Amino acid sequence: MTTLQESAFAKVNLTLDVLDKRPDGYHNIKSIMQTISLRDDVEIDIGTGKPWCMVCNWDTIPADEKNLAWKAAKLFFDTTGKDPEGLEIRITKRIPTEAGLGGGSADAAAVLRALNRHYDYPFSILALAELGAQVGSDVPFCVLCGTAMAEGRGEQLRKLPDMPQGCCFVICKPDFSSSTPELYRKLDEKVIAHRPDHQAMESALLAGDLGKIAENLCNVFDPVVTQDHLEVNYIKSIFNSYGAVGYQMTGSGSAVFAIVESFEYAAVICNMLRENYPQIYIAKPV
Ligand code: C5P
Repeated sequence: MTTLQESAFAKVNLTLDVLDKRPDGYHNIKSIMQTISLRDDVEIDIGTGKPWCMVCNWDTIPADEKNLAWKAAKLFFDTTGKDPEGLEIRITKRIPTEAGLGGGSADAAAVLRALNRHYDYPFSILALAELGAQVGSDVPFCVLCGTAMAEGRGEQLRKLPDMPQGCCFVICKPDFSSSTPELYRKLDEKVIAHRPDHQAMESALLAGDLGKIAENLCNVFDPVVTQDHLEVNYIKSIFNSYGAVGYQMTGSGSAVFAIVESFEYAAVICNMLRENYPQIYIAKPV
């Protein structure tokens, strides 16, 4: 039996635009995504000689074939025709769920990366990312990691320059969660007033200009969720008062993130919010 270990990193959307609705019911998106150091840990035993099983430290997460990590493993073995002769997946979760942080997708991507390495790279990284699209829209980016532009459903990826070293993220997950399909429906019904300027964000990343990166944060889901949940404004006001250079919601929420210049700023913001929002984290760009 062999045990594989892989980190599953969360993501935030620096930009997120929702474009047209596709014939398959999904929407085309355009999003600059960033991997952050907030992570789950994934372990896989290969060759257990027993039926597949899964263990997760959070009992609210399905630990069976409904879990994206399990689906990813099944897809990998179905596609390659290999047989692990028994598999156990263990996940230590830290990434909050229903947050827009891509937690389930990160676990699935970690499984794909670990299996691909173990079987001596039957897929290139981009082919593995494309395979991941069958498991979920955010899986391809979570396979690639770093800073990248995602288009289509999220499977068309282009690497971008890394974020400046030294900056930090504060991620705050309020107690409510939103339904992603419902938010897409809401967006279909309204005129989107403010869309991201991707060119400006790409230039800001290329220049390593944190101020300009912050200035160009834009997520079309943010105003839709904020109008129904005013506590998001409270979290943002704390971010603003305690030195964040920029802030917004990630994905379809409900986590909100701030970009700060240093760990010290992040620690102060955490102290201000922790009492009301226990799900608060400091992370670095990865
Ligand atoms: O792929 P994922 O499971 O993240 O998507 C959840 C739901 O969000 C989909 O069933 C779909 O209704 C909506 N969605 C969409 N367009 C995307 C991604 C998600 O309409 N690009």
